[in-house]
Amino acid sequence: MFSKEDINLDALPKHIAVIMDGNGRWAKMKGKIRTFGHENGVKAVRDTVEAAAELGVSYLTLYAFSTENWNRPKYEINALMTLLVSTISKETKTLMDNNIRLESIGDMSALPKKCMKELLEAKAKTAGNTRMTLVLALSYSSRWEIKEAMQKIAIQVKSGELQPENINEATIAENLNTAGMPDPELLIRTSGEHRISNFLLWQISYAELYFTDKLWPDFRREDLYEAIVSYQRRERRFGKTSEQLSA
Ligand code: IPE
Ligand code: IPE
Ligand code: MG
Repeated sequence: MFSKEDINLDALPKHIAVIMDGNGRWAKMKGKIRTFGHENGVKAVRDTVEAAAELGVSYLTLYAFSTENWNRPKYEINALMTLLVSTISKETKTLMDNNIRLESIGDMSALPKKCMKELLEAKAKTAGNTRMTLVLALSYSSRWEIKEAMQKIAIQVKSGELQPENINEATIAENLNTAGMPDPELLIRTSGEHRISNFLLWQISYAELYFTDKLWPDFRREDLYEAIVSYQRRERRFGKTSEQLSA
């Protein structure tokens, strides 16, 4: 079991992204319906958010609902949206108490009205908080986000505001939903699946990937600590050689 003391607070990742996976299997193992797993995933969210803020992480991005998740059975989508609305409204006070700002990435216009309203309210209310930014990826997929960025850039080129030869990596980053946020240094995925599922493809080009077999509803702060310890034991070379780094 890992604790806070195992972590070097001077070398924390500034941005941690999490693919919260395995709710359905967790419920199935207990002989319950999938939505029971989603309900129990909220405890894991609360503990992870609190622990990340306490450590001093600046950005925590949680993948809560992907564009592709709209293809799930209607019953499950409705349950997830209802859970989202109730969780956001219930947790706004906790976010205020902990000085956490709420942000979101994804196609907000695809969300049910009630959900969008709660989200907008919570974002507005927490906008002045400074300890950590919690980013919810909702109706999000990386290819959708990149497509949107391409359209925004094309409009700027068409209007003559931007010359094609002046498009650089920063232009692309500035037109993504994550504009202004640092790239995640650590990406965690639970449930034993080793894939990215259309999450932050541009932003994770040099992130350290951490996979755990734990199902999301069982994930707790100690698991976050373990992921950070694993991250801190790695040598991040960014294309250079090990010798160059130690020189
Ligand atoms: C993650 O758990 C939550 C969402 C994708 C909304 P799943 O619902 O994908 O659970 P598994 O992967 O089927 O166990
Ligand atoms: C990824 O999980 C999306 C979220 C965690 C919100 P999925 O369960 O949808 O991913 P796949 O379908 O197994 O790749
Ligand atoms: Mg899944």
